[in-house]
Amino acid sequence: MTCTTITKVFYLSPTPICVNIIRFFFFFLLPSCYKKTERDRNHDYSIWPVYRHYNSNAEWVRAKCWHNENLSISNLYSKLMILKISSQNECRDLYERLSNIFTVTQRSGQLVLPKPFAVKVKNWLGQNEELYAEAKYQHITLVFNEYTRDNTMFNPLRAKRPVHKPDLPQREYVDQLSIKTAKSCDFCNYTSFTAEDLFGRIESKHSFTAANAFKYDAWHALVITREHHPLNWSEDVFLDAMSVAMQWYDKVHSVDIRYKLPTLLWDLLPHASASQVHPHLHINLLPDRYYGVIENWRIAAEHYNNDFPGTNYFTELLDLHSLLGLAIHFKTAAAFANITPKKDNEIVVLGQAPNEDFFKLLYYVLRAYVDDMEKLCFSMAIAFPSLLEEDVTGRLPVYARLISRGTVGEVRSDISSLELFAASNVNVDPFQVAMKVKDSVKKRLKSAY
Ligand SMILES: *[C@@H]1O[C@H](CO)[C@@H](O)[C@H](O)[C@H]1NC(C)=O
Ligand SMILES: *[C@@H]1O[C@H](CO)[C@@H](O)[C@H](O)[C@H]1NC(C)=O
Ligand SMILES: *[C@@H]1O[C@H](CO)[C@@H](O)[C@H](O)[C@H]1NC(C)=O
Ligand SMILES: [Zn+2]
Repeated sequence: MTCTTITKVFYLSPTPICVNIIRFFFFFLLPSCYKKTERDRNHDYSIWPVYRHYNSNAEWVRAKCWHNENLSISNLYSKLMILKISSQNECRDLYERLSNIFTVTQRSGQLVLPKPFAVKVKNWLGQNEELYAEAKYQHITLVFNEYTRDNTMFNPLRAKRPVHKPDLPQREYVDQLSIKTAKSCDFCNYTSFTAEDLFGRIESKHSFTAANAFKYDAWHALVITREHHPLNWSEDVFLDAMSVAMQWYDKVHSVDIRYKLPTLLWDLLPHASASQVHPHLHINLLPDRYYGVIENWRIAAEHYNNDFPGTNYFTELLDLHSLLGLAIHFKTAAAFANITPKKDNEIVVLGQAPNEDFFKLLYYVLRAYVDDMEKLCFSMAIAFPSLLEEDVTGRLPVYARLISRGTVGEVRSDISSLELFAASNVNVDPFQVAMKVKDSVKKRLKSAY
């Protein structure tokens, strides 16, 4: 095909042929070569402002914007409506910032109760007339994160539903389980009954690694504590296990240079899906992207950065939770009760780097679950920034997410089709969770410093 026929085909004006060729290239060929698909966009990270820990003055906001009243998940919607039309610029500004990420809505559902059932329901609710009125006219608060699409529906009344009382107190159940399983525990005799990585093991005073015998990924190992008891790990033991994990990531990277993105997963006790009672943490090193759920948060941060280029998404996420009174600060680390929790009692722990501040605060939060909130089984994930300092695009801070997983001996699973395929239903108020965790962490800090 000659240049003249191209001109004819595209009905171009009789300009010099070469100009037309250049036009054709730029307007027709080039865009089709460079047309971005979702695959491209999902790898297309930019450089975000660096995440820095920041503790803003929540007291000021508490006085000015919340009038020193206590927030709760049930009154959040109405409080935000008031915030929107506040006479204070700063409060309206806070409303804007919250609305940039979160949509809070409220819906109500009514019930008609036949007499015998009404008697039953009143009994469940301890003959409390106020609660009974609430049961007949229920308010559900829905929170949607526009960037991550995390979506939680809260109905604190659902927490008042009758629950099966455990036959044994939880701690006794765990002690008995611990004794029963110790006799034939592979992890207690790990040199004979666990696999090693090609480079051997990382060993330390309180913990060691083992290659996972049935891997779900190429680099998949376990950090195992030397003690069998699932609840008996001190700060030293926890920090030691974290240090062993970090050493394993570095070791794997040194033998397999493509792998550089660390993650850690921990389920405690069988009701939280742990296959062994003996504490063991799953560690993975990944090459070019994180697992999907983490990658979703990373893509959310990228999209937020496109919309608000001056702000790091994680900095904003923490600050908003701080201003809602949901955060706890410890040196360069912070923790907050997530306003869109995946499941009951979700806490997010954030750090500038996987350093002592971060791991200590994480330990305090975990012990708040176990020692002060009677949440003995939990699931946790940590996403670390790339091991390579030169990976500056789409660079995550270090963060952990943890949720409690219900009563240790309960038969019913706490995760259902709802959480797996639709949204999360959580009936524990994040504002209550924050208060409990704050008190517990403060107590621990007081005794530690
Ligand atoms: C807010 O909560 C705190 C702690 O539970 C309580 O001491 C205080 O009285 C509450 N304030 C109001 C206005 O309800
Ligand atoms: C560990 O397992 C080996 C092989 O079965 C056995 O000989 C050894 O006694 C076990 N050690 C302990 C401490 O149970
Ligand atoms: C708990 O750990 C300590 C220190 O490692 C140990 O001395 C103690 O025997 C353990 N208790 C139980 C019940 O395993
Ligand atoms: Zn064991």
